[in-house]
Amino acid sequence: MRALIHDPEAPAGLRLDTAPDPVPGPGQVLVEVRATALNFGEVKYLAAQRQPGEVSGWDAAGVVVQAAADGSGPSVGSRVVTFGWSGGWGGLRVVDVDELAVVPESVDLGAASGLPVAGVTALRAVRRLGPVVGRRVLVTGASGGVGRFAVQLAARAGAWVVASVGSEARGEGLIELGAGEIVVGLDKVTDPVFGVLDNVGGQQLAQAFALLEEGGSAQAIGKASGEATTIDFEEARIRGFRTSIEPFFVGPKFGPDLAYLVDLLDKGQLDPQIGWRGDWSRASEAAKALLARKINGKAILDIT
Ligand SMILES: NC(=O)c1ccc[n+]([C@@H]2O[C@H](COP(=O)([O-])OP(=O)(O)OC[C@H]3O[C@@H](n4cnc5c(N)ncnc54)[C@H](OP(=O)(O)O)[C@@H]3O)[C@@H](O)[C@H]2O)c1
Repeated sequence: MRALIHDPEAPAGLRLDTAPDPVPGPGQVLVEVRATALNFGEVKYLAAQRQPGEVSGWDAAGVVVQAAADGSGPSVGSRVVTFGWSGGWGGLRVVDVDELAVVPESVDLGAASGLPVAGVTALRAVRRLGPVVGRRVLVTGASGGVGRFAVQLAARAGAWVVASVGSEARGEGLIELGAGEIVVGLDKVTDPVFGVLDNVGGQQLAQAFALLEEGGSAQAIGKASGEATTIDFEEARIRGFRTSIEPFFVGPKFGPDLAYLVDLLDKGQLDPQIGWRGDWSRASEAAKALLARKINGKAILDIT
């Protein structure tokens, strides 16, 4: 098959070449991939995660060309969106039947391909906050892939969303997605928040944690800043009430949550926030733009 393989010498470490066809196990389907997405983690840490010649890629959408041998999962011809920790950037992908959802004809496979890691992360992180209806939720890195889904899903759950971005331009469209307010950094935020969904880490997470109200919690989702976080818990203790912080991990079994997000897309109740879309021969260009914070939302590659 054709695939984006890891080549340490190529721009952004990616080269369109050939790779062996993947072989499905008993509980896996084989999918002909039509579109895939880029996520910060797999792009930024590609060289650390992959050997030269390997095919990375977490998110992919396409059509089932071989059903699972054990009879589980969708049949040949089904349109699906899929998640796995590798292999999404190939023309063919094998995927466990509990890591996919069927996509109706009415939903574009490119839009669906941006859902798995960013969308399911946002959904599960919002859930970890507990009831947010009528409460303030701060989303940092709200301009990015996870952030733009988090804004929409927290607003949908009834929260007043404070969307934190790096510049005004990066906040474009967030009010339309349901944000109550957009802030550039946290220096001017003084009102407490019930929940924090932090994609940035470093100083911004420390500042966000200090904004929590009694009983509030922070989900440390990511570290896009590359900075470690220092929190003075003595300061938190002196505030005199209980707050918490949790290192979030998205976890396995994406199927049911992906199906929920696909349904929202289908009903027009979730916007896929495609900030960049192009042929997969332009993968390096997209990867560089993503890391340079030039893409508002998801980067989608069409597999041709
Ligand atoms: N825990 C998990 O299971 C899980 C799952 C998915 C993703 N993640 C992590 O969550 C984070 C967000 O992922 P994503 O896919 O939303 O990434 P993304 O689309 O690249 O968005 C990251 C956002 O962080 C902000 N940012 C601040 N400082 C930055 C810097 N130095 N470099 C790059 N971005 C910076 C940017 O917003 P501005 O330009 O507006 O400042 C950007 O929009 C990443 O760290 C990712 O690894 C974790």
